[in-house]
Amino acid sequence: MSTLRAADAASIEDAAKILRDGGLVAFPTETVYGLGADATNDRAVAAIFAAKERPRFNPLIVHVPDMETAKRLVTFTPAARWLAERFWPGALTLVLPRLAGTPLSLLVSAGLDTVAVRVPSEPIAQKLIAAARIPIAAPSANASGEVSPTTAEHVRQSLRDKVDLILDGGPTRLGLESTVIGFDNGKPVMLRPGSLARVTIEAVAGPLGRPADETIASPGQLASHYAPDAKIHLNAVSAGPGEVLLAFGPATGATRNLSPSGDLAEAAANLFAMLRELDAMNPRAIAVMPIPDHGLGEAINDRLRRAAAPRGLRA
Ligand code: TXA
Ligand code: MG
Repeated sequence: MSTLRAADAASIEDAAKILRDGGLVAFPTETVYGLGADATNDRAVAAIFAAKERPRFNPLIVHVPDMETAKRLVTFTPAARWLAERFWPGALTLVLPRLAGTPLSLLVSAGLDTVAVRVPSEPIAQKLIAAARIPIAAPSANASGEVSPTTAEHVRQSLRDKVDLILDGGPTRLGLESTVIGFDNGKPVMLRPGSLARVTIEAVAGPLGRPADETIASPGQLASHYAPDAKIHLNAVSAGPGEVLLAFGPATGATRNLSPSGDLAEAAANLFAMLRELDAMNPRAIAVMPIPDHGLGEAINDRLRRAAAPRGLRA
C-alpha cells in the first residue's frame, strides 16, 4: 500500500523531493485530492496516466504558486488576467494558450495547444508547490471512472500501491472539483461547472459563453466520468425497494443527507464521500432527491448526471 503521512513540514519536504525526482504524490487541495507529478517531466506525467489507468490521455491541470509563475507558462488574455486577479488563489482553472518555449510537458496538454492552470488556496498545496519549486500536474487522485477523493483514505482505497506518498490533510474544504473556464475569441466560456459558482464568476465577468464544440472544449469530460458502481436514480422522492436514499433538505427515510438544512455548499462538500458510502452498501440503486440548479447546484447536478449515465460511456 502507498505510504500515507500527516501533512506536516517534514512530510511536505519529503513530498517535494519525490516530485522533483519524478515520483507521484497525492495531496489535498481545497477542492479534492490531486495526484501530482512534475509538469515539466514527460515520464512523471505519463506515470499519472498509468496510475489512474486512464483509457486515454486527458489534459491535466497544472498547479502553480501564483500568477507570476503562470505567466511564464501560458499567455493571459485581458479577461483571463482579470479572472485570475479576482479568484486566485482558489477553485478556478483557466485554459490558456501554451507559451512558446514553455518547459511544460506536451503530455499535460494531451496534444492541444492549450494548458489548464490553477493556483490552489489550500495551505498544504501551497507549501508543497513552493517547496517543490516546479509546476505540478495533478488530476483528481482516483482511478479512472471513480468519484473524486475528498479524504486521504479515499485516495489509498482507489490508487492502492501506485502513489509514492499520500499527504493527509483531512477532508477537503469544498469537496467538488474546480470550475474550468476556457476562452473563445477572448470571451470566457464555462467548460466544467465546479466549486466556484457560475453566478460568482458572472458577477464580475458578465455572462459566460457555452463551448462551441463540447468534445474539443473539455476532452476529459466523458459522460460517466464520476460514476460509482451502483445505479443512480435521479430526482427521487423516496427510496424504492432495495434502494438507498441520498436526501437533500428536510427528509424522512434518508440513508444519507447531503444537507438537512438545504445548504448547497454543505451538499457539495458531502457529495463524493456520501456517494462512496452508499455505493459500499451494494444497493439496487442510489435514489437521489432533486437538488436546486442554482449556485453550486449546477456543479452538483452535473456530477450526478454523469454518475447516472450509462456504463458504456465510462471514462
Ligand atoms: O479541483 C480540481 O480541478 C482538481 C484538483 C486536484 O485541482 N483537479 C481535477 O483534475 O479535477 P481532472 O484532471 O480530474 O480534471 C481536469 C479537467 C477535465 O475536465 C479536463 O478536460 C479539463 O480540466 N482540462 C484540462 N486541460 C484542458 C485543456 N487544455 N483544454 C480543455 N480542458 C482541459
Ligand atoms: Mg477527475
